[in-house]
Amino acid sequence: MNKISFLSASLIFAVLIIPITLTFGEELKPIQLLKPQLDIGRPLMQVLKDRSSSRSFSTRKLPVQLLSNLLWAAFGFNRLEEGKRTAPSARNWQEIDIYVAMAEGLYLYDAKKHTLTPVLSKDIRAMAGKQDFVKDAPVNLIYVADFSKMGNAAKEDKELYSAADTGFISQNVYLFCASEGLATVVRGSIDRDALAKAMKLRADQKIILAQTIGYPKK
Ligand SMILES: Cc1cc2nc3c(=O)[nH]c(=O)nc-3n(C[C@H](O)[C@H](O)[C@H](O)COP(=O)(O)O)c2cc1C
Repeated sequence: MNKISFLSASLIFAVLIIPITLTFGEELKPIQLLKPQLDIGRPLMQVLKDRSSSRSFSTRKLPVQLLSNLLWAAFGFNRLEEGKRTAPSARNWQEIDIYVAMAEGLYLYDAKKHTLTPVLSKDIRAMAGKQDFVKDAPVNLIYVADFSKMGNAAKEDKELYSAADTGFISQNVYLFCASEGLATVVRGSIDRDALAKAMKLRADQKIILAQTIGYPKK
């Protein structure tokens, strides 16, 4: 191969092959969650005694079974045949979507399929809250109200009810974490505009709160 054809071949490799490899390498795959384990957990009164906020997290990742149990407890379907879930929602609108920010990227919890659907193959944890621990904890749930699911309710009602509905989901997560010995804190301290932009949300989607989850830091 002469010098010119070698250079042309290298150029073709750089322009065509490298980007293709990177694109495939970066592709975020859906995560099939596992069946929630319904026979685990400590007695409710002891869990309530231990429920608390913690701001100190290990960077250790959560296994898929634990993540599956956590998301089902948060807002999974507990009465699939009636289309009802583990947390109540005003007029059964079920308008809160749970986005899951982890090191490998951002996912959306699809409760019906019990799957995490890829949204972004980018680590956006640093944007999920203003506090330092947020970017290093393995899981940040971002509770997003989808106002398009709330019919023609007035804007104030959409805001009020979606905030209340988020509270129930967050408390489910608090109780699950207390039962399983995980650390968690629900957070309002978020740059919502910047995060919504990073998540590519629509104008009728509103970030209500976020919640960090992980093993306690030893
Ligand atoms: C709506 C709401 C927003 C909160 N925002 C934050 C926050 O941005 N950062 C934080 O560290 N804690 C936040 N918290 C946690 C509270 O500070 C915490 O619940 C309170 O201090 C009581 O502590 P406990 O949860 O351990 O009982 C928030 C709690 C709620 C209910």
